[in-house]
Amino acid sequence: MHYRIADGHPLPHNPFKAIVAPRPIGWISSVDAAGRVNLAPYSFFNGIADDPPMVMFSSLGRKVGRDEAKDSVSNIEATGEFVVNAADWALRDAMNVSSGGYAAEEDEFELAGLEKAGSLEVRPPRVAAAPAALECVLDRIVELPASAAGLPNRMVIGRVVAVHIRDDALTDGMFDIAKARLIARCGYRDYLSVDSLFQMTRPKGGDREALGS
Ligand SMILES: Cc1cc2nc3c(=O)[nH]c(=O)nc-3n(C[C@H](O)[C@H](O)[C@H](O)COP(=O)(O)O)c2cc1C
Repeated sequence: MHYRIADGHPLPHNPFKAIVAPRPIGWISSVDAAGRVNLAPYSFFNGIADDPPMVMFSSLGRKVGRDEAKDSVSNIEATGEFVVNAADWALRDAMNVSSGGYAAEEDEFELAGLEKAGSLEVRPPRVAAAPAALECVLDRIVELPASAAGLPNRMVIGRVVAVHIRDDALTDGMFDIAKARLIARCGYRDYLSVDSLFQMTRPKGGDREALGS
């Protein structure tokens, strides 16, 4: 089957997010100008550069009386900092709870029963139980085309300034995403947990060693 976006999809549910899958989940902690803490998952999230390490996530605003950006984006715009927490199998319910549409002043760490850990370089706290966390400073916010509903649609780009890895998530000095059972977002209501990995060695002439530098 085929369809043009302009015509709308003919399927029972939009397949786009099932095609661009699995997507890693950037579980974003941030604070507002008054220091109030926020936590929310974003699966339009990825690493976009290695050196310096950089990440992005994008956020489609919501309609609450008026069109407004989601709290994570408003906070990061105001303070210039955020943390990307990795979510593993054990944290799946807490991650989901934190995605609720709560008022800006509500602390999703408390709502989801999560302990906070301090960050090294930025004000937002980390999810203490997360297998890994990336402290980020804002590089820029890119305005994306607005949806048909006219909601703000923004991509946040951040530069990673500090990295945390839970000791038990390291195997022989490597971040072991299968051991941590990292979770990822697919389409519809589907998620995936990483349970196995396979290795391939790059052909000669690759620009980096196979294990990364
Ligand atoms: C796994 C998962 C991934 C999500 N990814 C996105 C996303 O990429 N972009 C987005 O706008 N909302 C996404 N959401 C919805 C937001 O988490 C939700 O709107 C949340 O309330 C935003 O919180 P905030 O206003 O505190 O930033 C996702 C939800 C879940 C459960």
